[in-house]
Amino acid sequence: MSVHIPYGRQSIDESDVAAVTETLRSDWLTQGPKVAEFEAALAAYCGARHAVAFANGTAALQGAYFAAGFKPGDEFITSPITFAATATAGLWQGAKPVFADVDPATGNLDPKAAEKLLTARTRALVPVDFGGLPADLGAFRRLASGRGLLLIEDACHALGASLGGRRIGSVSDMTIFSFHPVKSITTGEGGAVLTDRDDLRDRLTQFRTHGIRRGEDWVYAVESMGLNYRLTDLQSALGLSQLRRLDSFIARRRQIARRYQEAFASWPEIEPAACRPEESAWHLYVLRLKAGFAPFRQEVFRSLRRAGIGVQVHYIPVYWHPLYEKMGYARGLCPRAEDFYSRIISLPIYPSLTDAEQDVVLATLRGILDGLHADRHPG
Ligand SMILES: Cc1ncc(COP(=O)(O)O)c(C=O)c1O
Repeated sequence: MSVHIPYGRQSIDESDVAAVTETLRSDWLTQGPKVAEFEAALAAYCGARHAVAFANGTAALQGAYFAAGFKPGDEFITSPITFAATATAGLWQGAKPVFADVDPATGNLDPKAAEKLLTARTRALVPVDFGGLPADLGAFRRLASGRGLLLIEDACHALGASLGGRRIGSVSDMTIFSFHPVKSITTGEGGAVLTDRDDLRDRLTQFRTHGIRRGEDWVYAVESMGLNYRLTDLQSALGLSQLRRLDSFIARRRQIARRYQEAFASWPEIEPAACRPEESAWHLYVLRLKAGFAPFRQEVFRSLRRAGIGVQVHYIPVYWHPLYEKMGYARGLCPRAEDFYSRIISLPIYPSLTDAEQDVVLATLRGILDGLHADRHPG
């Protein structure tokens, strides 16, 4: 029997198909009523005043940085354990990403490390809810307030997560989501920024649509360097339909995570994950090998892939990428992030993963680890 289990995938059912089909037959494929409906539903779900939908999470991040007023010479402090878009979208606004080290227990940006890197040029703190686990937003809020810094949360992994009883999306000055197929809900491509502030909402909306302010009749004025970063009605219809099932998606992800946690509790090769299982959205299940097993990470990864298990590694530290190396960022900058990276593998987790499939993942991994012991740790 050949196995093919990806690390993540979408959950589409007939209600999603019906919602998209209905919109396809309507008058509006884009710029119609579904976008505002989706935005309102998303804002209500998260407990925020506004949601501004974007073509994807990267565009949403760039919109947030534009709305924040980033300009050349500005700095923002972020995590190296993230997808490069968190940092690169800031480069497009001329600002400089400053990478602070992570909390080794979670892989999330460490507020104490961030504090040490504050300068007169810092404009914003940009923590990432890595794997769906909310960052220490209370500490980042304390750092931001009084210094006039914005708290911009990359929550692309964390729609459906909460922190101290508050839904993610309602905590930071701006919160960014992605609706890529592996995320909590999908619109194919898609993203959004949530905010309580009217001024930020206005700037986000302008940026998304060519920097345009509408006047009477045909009159409109291009006031800023916006782009076309709109989400379509087709996508919004899918998003609305998916949002209705978000809680059940997260509940299933939590069950899967719990089964992994229970299994790994007695495995000597694996470092137990520090997490808040009932708060995380569990976008990723990140397996961390104990330090002594780091040299075998690639072998374990390759063996899992050969067995049809679509593991991934999230993430290569952002500043290791050639773009950032060329800009002068050097390896060794964030030693805890680099150690974290050297030991991690993302295992399959998504709502339609069955217990039987998860058992295959666990049995395959156990076999691979036993093989390492037999080869290299006799006795
Ligand atoms: C942490 C993080 N930030 C930003 C993004 C960018 O989102 P998108 O792929 O929707 O552009 C992603 C998506 O992969 C992500 O994981």
